[in-house]
Amino acid sequence: MKNFKRHTITAALPYANGPVHIGHLAGVYVPADIFSRYLRLKGEDVLFVCGSDEHGVPITLKARQENTTPQNIVDRYHSIIKNSFEKFGISTDIYSRTSSPTHHTTSSNFFKKLYDDGLFVEKTSDQFYDEDAKQFLADRYITGTCPHCSNDRAYGDQCENCGTSLNATDLINPVSTISGSKPIMKETKHWYLPLENYEDFLKKWILDDHKDWKPNVYGQCKSWLDQGLQARAVSRDLDWGVPVPVKNADGKVLYVWFDAPIGYISNTIEWAEKNNKNWEDYWKSEQTRLIHFIGKDNIVFHCIIFPAMLKAHGDFILPDNVPANEFLNLEGDKISTSRNWAVWLHEYLEDFPGQQDVLRYVLCAGAPETKDNDFTWKDFQARNNNELVAILGNFINRALVLTQKYYDGKVPERGSLNDFDKDTLNQLKDCKAKIETQLDQFRFREALKEAMNVARLGNKYLADSEPWKIIKTNPERVKTILNISLQISANLAIIFEPFLPFTSEKIRKFLNLEIAGWNLLGNDNILNPGDNIGTPELLFSKIEDSQIEVQIEKLMKTKAINAANTKQVPVKEAINFETFSGMDLRVGTIIEAEKVPKTKKLLKLKIDTGIDQRTVVSGIAEFHNPEKIIGKQVTLLLNLEPRNIKGIESQGMILMAENSDGELIFVSPTQLVINGAAVK
Ligand code: MF3
Ligand code: ZN
Repeated sequence: MKNFKRHTITAALPYANGPVHIGHLAGVYVPADIFSRYLRLKGEDVLFVCGSDEHGVPITLKARQENTTPQNIVDRYHSIIKNSFEKFGISTDIYSRTSSPTHHTTSSNFFKKLYDDGLFVEKTSDQFYDEDAKQFLADRYITGTCPHCSNDRAYGDQCENCGTSLNATDLINPVSTISGSKPIMKETKHWYLPLENYEDFLKKWILDDHKDWKPNVYGQCKSWLDQGLQARAVSRDLDWGVPVPVKNADGKVLYVWFDAPIGYISNTIEWAEKNNKNWEDYWKSEQTRLIHFIGKDNIVFHCIIFPAMLKAHGDFILPDNVPANEFLNLEGDKISTSRNWAVWLHEYLEDFPGQQDVLRYVLCAGAPETKDNDFTWKDFQARNNNELVAILGNFINRALVLTQKYYDGKVPERGSLNDFDKDTLNQLKDCKAKIETQLDQFRFREALKEAMNVARLGNKYLADSEPWKIIKTNPERVKTILNISLQISANLAIIFEPFLPFTSEKIRKFLNLEIAGWNLLGNDNILNPGDNIGTPELLFSKIEDSQIEVQIEKLMKTKAINAANTKQVPVKEAINFETFSGMDLRVGTIIEAEKVPKTKKLLKLKIDTGIDQRTVVSGIAEFHNPEKIIGKQVTLLLNLEPRNIKGIESQGMILMAENSDGELIFVSPTQLVINGAAVK
């Protein structure tokens, strides 16, 4: 890798329309923080920049719902989010906001430069307009009937029933979700960034020159670039945002995804002004390494659109890496703000005061680095009790308590080393290179394992050398053991600083260690004989079942509320027995399953019904992986009239139970029965 002089590290600007939750922390802010802290410990010049993303339609809608102003909404959430990040030790050098004057000027000038250079295309088009709300409607805010499957709750950009992607103009009977009225078509002018002009540059820059990017990031970029890029509108008709800085653009603002990434630059400018620095060093020098930490839904904006903007502008460096993460789920379900399915940081702080490092640890240990991952409270408890308490906390505590007890809190002298000591110290020496390899490649989970291995090494060293058994018979040997244990403790203070900053600080305090430079890592003479050791306190405490139960109950309540809020299925009219027995319900086994191409929801199944093998098309692809359902017994309505779905004849229907969150679950016999068994 190139040798850089400086690092500009950005973390996605969170939308200021709600508080932040564990998914945000795990996917973006903890990794960005670990990386920034690591580089700072190495003595590098680091700027870690973040802030709130305060524009966009959702914020205006929330304000409308609450009968207040968008500024009011963003003021509220900006301070909640900022506070949560501070409490969790997210060590940004600046956390500002896109409603700031500096940002308005910076993003406005950015647009102006591209405009003056003739890099935008102006286009007039007809768009849906809500006359009641006096607002043009983004596709997501229009619903109507799908022309393909007649689902009457299709969105302007997609029908979630049949998976077809739509244009809002395709919808039958479009309705505005804002006012419920029927939108009209109205002409409007916008500025577009012709991304196709940057395609060759992006292809070379990403596909040839950045093969080092994470496979999930590289893969998404490749698929975008393979599909071919199109011009994107960079303005919107809205009264909230950065006004388009050209004549005759009243009522038009910069599209939120145009202004928000410029927020990284604006916030740098604000920081530089306050700290007497030159902001341009962090954005315009080839010796600066720019890194964007984001979640996977932000990849196209940070790898394609923003770089195209930066390239168009011409003065700026491009990101050297964009280590995007996948998503974190909660107890098996997708985290959802609207369904309140989340662990909110401000609530965690109330329920687990002072235990920020525990959450940082668990979220890093299970970070969704290569695939989506699940957060469960059981796992949270287990990692705390079995790892933080039993290994790291236990080791440090024993080393300190024994030093207090035997040597009056002073680091003892080391005598001659035996093979076990030497082997332990050799392993300690190796930890620096091992962890750096992982950190340099953004593999924070593996890096954390390496850090924990040092605690394991210490724990094992102390347990196997049993100083408490030989203190009477061989006090000289105990001095060596404790000296080594304390040196390992000092190493732990350094190695855990990026991951568990609060814990690291406590350990440093116990050891009276002022500096914790990364370069000392692996060293076994960090503490000098005679140095004073403070009185230890426990670093971590056991999390009881009862605490976890409270959290799980909270989630169950949310589930119940969501279930009550979902449309109650009305009781249907009574039918006679003949009607019921006219349904040929049987048990069958899925013997083949594959996705129906170009759909999101559909699986084509082959079912062994005992009398034949038939094809059934079922809308369950979002919930069931085709490979995993082969061999599964299901209940089948055999004599439903065959229907043609996406060109496939579906001969029957599988029965599914619908959960409160719309998840579809098989209705299967609880023990194996023969295929064709009647259901009555
Ligand atoms: N607010 C966006 C989100 O939460 C992220 C914006 S990142 C920025 O998905 F680069 F635009 F700032
Ligand atoms: Zn449809």
